[in-house]
Amino acid sequence: MSVTSKETLIALVELGGLEADGLQAFEAVASIGDWEVARVAFLGLKQGRLKTAQEVLKTLPGPDRRAYGQRFNAVKTALEAACERERERLDQSAPVIKMLGEDLSVPGAHLGFGRRHPLTQTSEELIDIFGRMGFELARGPEIEDTFHNFEALNIPGDHPAREPLDNFYLSPKSLLRSQTSTVQIRVMEATQPPIRVVALGRVYRPDAVDATHSFMFHQIEGLYVDRGVTMANLKSTLRQFAKSYLGQDVTVRFRPSFFPFTEPSVEVDMMWDSSGRWVEMGGAGMVDPNVLRSVGYDPDEVSGFAFGLGIERLCMRRHGIDDIRPFYQNDVRFLSQF
Ligand code: PHE
Repeated sequence: MSVTSKETLIALVELGGLEADGLQAFEAVASIGDWEVARVAFLGLKQGRLKTAQEVLKTLPGPDRRAYGQRFNAVKTALEAACERERERLDQSAPVIKMLGEDLSVPGAHLGFGRRHPLTQTSEELIDIFGRMGFELARGPEIEDTFHNFEALNIPGDHPAREPLDNFYLSPKSLLRSQTSTVQIRVMEATQPPIRVVALGRVYRPDAVDATHSFMFHQIEGLYVDRGVTMANLKSTLRQFAKSYLGQDVTVRFRPSFFPFTEPSVEVDMMWDSSGRWVEMGGAGMVDPNVLRSVGYDPDEVSGFAFGLGIERLCMRRHGIDDIRPFYQNDVRFLSQF
C-alpha cells in the first residue's frame, strides 16, 4: 500500500498502535466495570480513540484516504469483535454480574462471628457434667450479708477470715461474697434433704492480681445432703467429675485441711501436666454438724459433703493456660481460640 504523504504514514502507524492498545485493553478486563471503561475509551461515540482516528481521515490528502479508510475499517472491526468477545467471556464466568451491574466476585467483608467466653463455655460444661450426676443448679446473690457469708458457715464474729482487709465490704453487714459456699446455706434454708445441687458464679477477694490470682474469679460449689452420705461419696464424686471434664488419665489428690464449715476438710489437688506438678483446685469436706444445725437439720439424721472448685483453674488445666489474666482482658486473639 503506497501513500503520498508523511502525515498519512504517521496516521497509519497510529492506527496500528490503537489496534494493539485496544486488543490488549479488552483482553485484560476482569470485571464488567473494566469492560465498560475499555469500551468507552476505544469505541465510545463521542471521545473514543476510534472516533478520533476517524476524524483524521478528513485531514489526509485525497489520494491517501482510501488506504487509510480500509485500514481504519479493519481496526474498527477487530476492536468491536474483541469488545463483544470479552463481554461474552465475562457474562459466562459470572452471570449474576450482568444482572446486578455489580462485581459480585469481589470477596465480601469478613463478618467475624462472636463466641461465648471460655469461662461461660466451661461453666456450661460443668453444669452439664454435674447434671448427669444428679446435681441440680442453684443460685445465690453476689452481694451477700455477713450471716450467709460467715456466721451460718461457722465463721464467728472474731474469725480472721472476716478481716476488712480480706473482704470487699459494702457496709458492716454486707459484702461481695468471698465464696460460693453462701449458696449452700441459702439452699438448705429453703429445702429439706435430700439435696444435691451445684452453684456457679463470681466471688471476690482483695488479692493482688498476678498469673494465678485475681480480685474476682469464679467458683463451682457442690452440696449433697442425705442420710448416710460419706467422705467416700465425696471422693468418688470429685474423681468421677475430674475424669469427665479433664480425661481418664487425670490424677486427683486429697490433702487434709481445715475449713470452718466442713469437718473433716480436704484440699483437692489435680496433676497439672506430665511434669508431675500438683495444683490446688479447691476445697471440700463433710458439712460441719454446726452448719447442719444452723439451718435446722438434725446432724444425727443426715450428713452431707460440700466442695468448692475454681472454674478458671479447671479451664486453665483443660486448655494448658498458665496465666489467669487473659480471661478478663477481652483480647480477641485469646478469646477467639475457644
Ligand atoms: N469455700 C471454700 C473456699 O472458697 C471452698 C470449700 C467449699 C471448702 C466447700 C469446703 C467445702 O476456699
